[in-house]
Amino acid sequence: MNQIAVIGAGTMGRGIAQLAAIHGHDVILVDQSEQVLIDARDKLDYFIQRLAAKGKLSNEDAVAAFGRLHFTSEMSAIEGSDLVIEAIIENLEIKQKVFRQIESLVSDDCILASNTSSLSITSIASCLEDPSRCIGMHFFNPAPLMKLVELIPAIQSDHGYIKRADDLLDGWGKTTVVAKDTPAFIVNRIARPFYSEAMRIHEEGIAEPATIDWAMKEIGGFRMGPFALMDFIGHDVNYKVTETVFEAFYYDKRYIPSFTQKRLVEAGYLGRKSGRGFYSYETEDQMPEANQDHELGQDIVDRILVMLINEAAEAMLFSVASRDDIESAMTLGVNYPKGLLAWAEDIGYPRCVSRLDALHDRYREERYRCSAWLRDQM
Ligand SMILES: NC(=O)c1ccc[n+]([C@@H]2O[C@H](COP(=O)([O-])OP(=O)(O)OC[C@H]3O[C@@H](n4cnc5c(N)ncnc54)[C@H](O)[C@@H]3O)[C@@H](O)[C@H]2O)c1
Repeated sequence: MNQIAVIGAGTMGRGIAQLAAIHGHDVILVDQSEQVLIDARDKLDYFIQRLAAKGKLSNEDAVAAFGRLHFTSEMSAIEGSDLVIEAIIENLEIKQKVFRQIESLVSDDCILASNTSSLSITSIASCLEDPSRCIGMHFFNPAPLMKLVELIPAIQSDHGYIKRADDLLDGWGKTTVVAKDTPAFIVNRIARPFYSEAMRIHEEGIAEPATIDWAMKEIGGFRMGPFALMDFIGHDVNYKVTETVFEAFYYDKRYIPSFTQKRLVEAGYLGRKSGRGFYSYETEDQMPEANQDHELGQDIVDRILVMLINEAAEAMLFSVASRDDIESAMTLGVNYPKGLLAWAEDIGYPRCVSRLDALHDRYREERYRCSAWLRDQM
């Protein structure tokens, strides 16, 4: 592929553009906002120079890579592209409008990919005259660093296009997994309880965020605790994903969003970016102390972990992806210390089932229903 177009020069678009340019493609980076384009140019210049300063690229290669990037607000510039990756606002109507425009400009065998986190690829593809070349290509933030890309065929997709995308991403050093076009694909779906169960434990007054974060990091081995991670992602973004997943699963109570997080969004306590979320970032040295009670910490980890395992089991039950892909998605997409299904085996399937059944018996909520797949493993 010679020329790649990226539509949307925000957080994700610019990261994907950087990757493509470094790997030798001419890149047309399109955004409707001139200011975003100026910002993207500055940031990409800085990041590519930094790669050279760190010895990851030669100075010559860095200059050449930056030279391959073209910044424009004119959609017509994408003509002649072999692949178009859309990374604009998460809104189906707007994405469909842009996809129709893209289709009218490029050649018949150009791949049309969306980086959507939670919209259906089938819905996006349905607006096209030829939906067979529309696929999902879901990168993780920051795109140049995160190894994982989820590839999602729409039900109309010709799998030859998935193969071409897979070959390309392989050359970029990415690990790809293939996900069925189901809400939030693999990672964003299976990871929901990492946040929601942590907030539930907090809402029930069992432990404070600092204690839950300590337990998940120090006992669970996760890189960040759920509250620190939600503050980092931004509550507006994290809440929106949960809400979208909840709606997309026809209001399955397992994915019910948290009022606590909704209140934070309403108050403008969006996390690090607004200076305050679950924690206050004005005075970092005064972060709250965790209650380092090991027994409490282990209970917290056991409860959140079994909820994550249950989601991975549901993904297996409904063939969202292969077992290997589910395992690599969670270790590479969100840096979990271990694949959740391997973790279930280590704990023992009967123990996982009895932990979930105990939660279900206690609360009598759908949220804690044990996946049939997990029960089948006993
Ligand atoms: N941020 C993440 O962590 C993340 C991770 C994976 C996937 N995604 C998905 O990637 C997409 C983009 O997310 P983001 O975080 O980069 O958003 P962003 O808000 O940072 O950037 C979106 C950009 O698209 C531009 N835009 C909007 N409509 C446009 C149009 N019609 N034509 C051209 N440009 C247009 C906006 O000006 C903006 O610069 C979304 O679908 C999101 O769900 C985001």
